[in-house]
Amino acid sequence: MVLHCISFVIAAFQISQQEEFRFWRWDNPVIFTVLFVSFLAILVYYISMKVVVPERLKMQEELYKKKLENMRMMSLFAEKDPNPLLRIDKQGNISYCNDAAIEIFSDNQLIGRPFAEIIIEGTSERIGKLIEQDESFARELALRGKYFWLNVIGFKELGFAQSYFSDITDQKNLNIRLANTNTQLRELSNYLNIAGESERKKIAKELHDGVGMSLSLIKLKLNAIGEVLKDNQLATAAFGEIAAFTDSVSAGIKEIMAGLHPRILEDFGLDASFRIYVEKVTEKTGLSGKYHTNRFADRFPPQFEITVYRLVQELINNIVKHARASWFSVTVSYIDGVLQITVDDDGVGFDEAKIRETKKGMGLRNLRERVTGFNGEIEIDSSPEEGTHVTIEFLKEHIDAGQNS
Ligand SMILES: Nc1ncnc2c1ncn2[C@@H]1O[C@H](COP(=O)(O)OP(=O)(O)OP(=O)(O)O)[C@@H](O)[C@H]1O
Ligand SMILES: [Mg+2]
Repeated sequence: MVLHCISFVIAAFQISQQEEFRFWRWDNPVIFTVLFVSFLAILVYYISMKVVVPERLKMQEELYKKKLENMRMMSLFAEKDPNPLLRIDKQGNISYCNDAAIEIFSDNQLIGRPFAEIIIEGTSERIGKLIEQDESFARELALRGKYFWLNVIGFKELGFAQSYFSDITDQKNLNIRLANTNTQLRELSNYLNIAGESERKKIAKELHDGVGMSLSLIKLKLNAIGEVLKDNQLATAAFGEIAAFTDSVSAGIKEIMAGLHPRILEDFGLDASFRIYVEKVTEKTGLSGKYHTNRFADRFPPQFEITVYRLVQELINNIVKHARASWFSVTVSYIDGVLQITVDDDGVGFDEAKIRETKKGMGLRNLRERVTGFNGEIEIDSSPEEGTHVTIEFLKEHIDAGQNS
């Protein structure tokens, strides 16, 4: 068609170049072309106005009808709901309620009352907007000894909002029971930790007062007998051996006592205890261990001090047992009421999520439990390339408030 028009225009141009050319002639191709194009344009306009536009309008109308029908069905369906349902007009007043609503509110005069008056204060103003903007909101609600999930949905086309109440009482009660059980478990775990600690302290004291004292006495007596028999070479050698053996048993018992109950913690506090503990581990394992501190002399409640000491002990034990590290470091600072402890190593690292799945070991789980017991924060950052870095933080107010406050 376009080519056809172009050839007409070219022919018209050629004719116009001839001498005897007259414009207003029926066989003038220019006039013919103009008439032809105008006819085409009118035809296209006519078809689009008579066929395309009405078709599109019809489709839009059908879509709108379907949407309206859907919404009607939805509201009808809700009316049959065994859960309470309220319909609210643009002014925020109840315009419809189902039987379940009458039953839960024990009121058959609900119609006409403001929705805000019986449900949530301040919602009346929101309802108009909700309807106008086709919006919705949801929240939990306690009503007459039951719990509901309230969903308020605005329908612009229908000019009202509908509020659906889903009964979640059973689920809520279950959650409450679960939370109570968790609290009880945490309390039990705390109790076991405290009981274990006091039992260890008792055993350490008995070892010190009983076995330790007896060993010291044996050593004294041996020394006295050794003095008497010092001319007998055989006896002197035997006594020397027995004395050395007694010393090593005595040292072993002291070590057990320190493990059971760190006296140094009781006497000098966290800073000194950490320093000595890191030194001892370094000495025993050959790992290079460093202790960094801002040298705080502050003392904390005994229950907190022993908890924090055990946390660091567990983290260092884990390094020795699992990390295959060449060094580790413990950094402790107490500044502006914040106690921060960082334990680092350059070992093989681990994936905590995977460890949790395998339910391997209790150490880290117990550690987290103990940190949250004092409202503390713990962050474990571990990867095979970068080793393991654990940071624990406690605030003074939580430390003073005590466990599970
Ligand atoms: N510093 C670390 N480097 C590498 N792996 C670690 C480190 N700390 C913990 N792990 C890994 O995490 C696991 C869980 O540690 P957790 O302390 O919970 O248990 P455990 O030490 O195996 O046993 P438990 O502490 O109960 O005696 C360990 O078995 C180990 O695989
Ligand atoms: Mg462990």
